[in-house]
Amino acid sequence: MEILAQPGSPFMQSNFTMGVATSSFQIEGDADNREPSIWDTFCNTPGKIADGSHGLVACDHVNRLEEDLSIIDSLNVDAYRFSISWPRIIKKDGSVNQQGLDFYLALLAKLKQNNIKPYVTLYHWDLPQYLEDEGGWLNRKTAYAFAEYVDVVSKAFGDNVFSYATLNEPFCSAYLGYEVGIHAPGKVGKEFGKKAIHHLLLAHGLGMRVLRKNVPNIESGVVLNFTPFYPNSNDEKDIRATKLAHDHHNDWYIKPLMHGCYPALIDDIPAAHRPDILDGDMDIISEKIDYLGVNYYTRAKVSDDGSEDPCQLPAPEGSETTAMGWEVYPQGLTDLLLQLHNDYPLPPLIITENGLASDDTLTKDGAVNDEQRIRYLTTHLQAVADAIEAGVNITGYFVWSLLDNFEWALGYEKRFGIIYVDYDTQKRTLKASALRLQQLLEERRKAL
Ligand code: NOJ
Repeated sequence: MEILAQPGSPFMQSNFTMGVATSSFQIEGDADNREPSIWDTFCNTPGKIADGSHGLVACDHVNRLEEDLSIIDSLNVDAYRFSISWPRIIKKDGSVNQQGLDFYLALLAKLKQNNIKPYVTLYHWDLPQYLEDEGGWLNRKTAYAFAEYVDVVSKAFGDNVFSYATLNEPFCSAYLGYEVGIHAPGKVGKEFGKKAIHHLLLAHGLGMRVLRKNVPNIESGVVLNFTPFYPNSNDEKDIRATKLAHDHHNDWYIKPLMHGCYPALIDDIPAAHRPDILDGDMDIISEKIDYLGVNYYTRAKVSDDGSEDPCQLPAPEGSETTAMGWEVYPQGLTDLLLQLHNDYPLPPLIITENGLASDDTLTKDGAVNDEQRIRYLTTHLQAVADAIEAGVNITGYFVWSLLDNFEWALGYEKRFGIIYVDYDTQKRTLKASALRLQQLLEERRKAL
């Protein structure tokens, strides 16, 4: 991670933003003071969460706000990326939960005091259950409900926010939630995924318009996740399958934003699987964004299995993997950033998530030696520096995640934090990676 404080490195620029990230459902807890979300319902469905856990307490962040914010401050980061819980803001009867707004207003005030830039994500997967009861993201009306929620939040927060993201990883909401069903709300069917994403993208565009009106001076955009795909062999069939995987899982999400249309693949998929696109939708979806957030974790190899959505292979034999079983492949990040840069007229990019899960444990003397995380962050920061060197405009990097937290369908067993959380006592312990980051960012700050 030395590159963070190395003279001349792209991270040693005062306009480059270094931060840490979290999301509401994964850390907040305090479920009594908000409406249930689709993730509460999913957690209550037997067999959906690996360790049978839920988000009712999580990291108890709402009750530990002061402590968590002083930890963030101690890390010497420039920014904190967190999300707003929609079900904490808008009640089932449509009224506003002032207590919910007050919580985030207190958070924002504290960040301001500490001179830390708030990067606010408006939707990080916790849809109010009352909207799912009306069809969730399969119902076009949800996009309009999102715009109303964005209106409430952006008016209440005013200029206390530095940057907004409308959605986080809409691929996961649509594909994992409505097509393969491993995320909430757990719907399964090829006919659902692409309809759901259309409404999510519409929500993004409508949300952007609200932000432009209410907070025109705040930088606003969206966060997408990408997996760079590589053919498993030089066989033409594998190469074709790789392109198909890219169209389904990457291009389907970015092309509408940048070019106002879906990939040509839309003509090849069965009519029943296509989204319902109304006149004007694609103009709303391609509303100009100020930045694109990129989340990167790993790559995948693809081999042709004759299917419409080709299979992605597990990490190659002998490769280094993380506790998620994901291959550690920093070159994939550089390749991805260059590919996006070549394919699209991009706004500035921000790496809004990068990090890994590891089987961290507390030693007897209270330390957590997460050497793999330090190595991972080191090589991936280098990958970002390489992309910048090659001409890609990247203006920020956020580590996922600040705290160990609720890793969705995998519960609390996967630890992504640079801070260890003991879920019995809620005690936080800075892992070796956090201590290193803290030290390097202090050196960086002094030199800037
Ligand atoms: C992406 C998601 O935004 C985040 O919520 C999740 O914990 C990480 N990936 C790790 O899987």
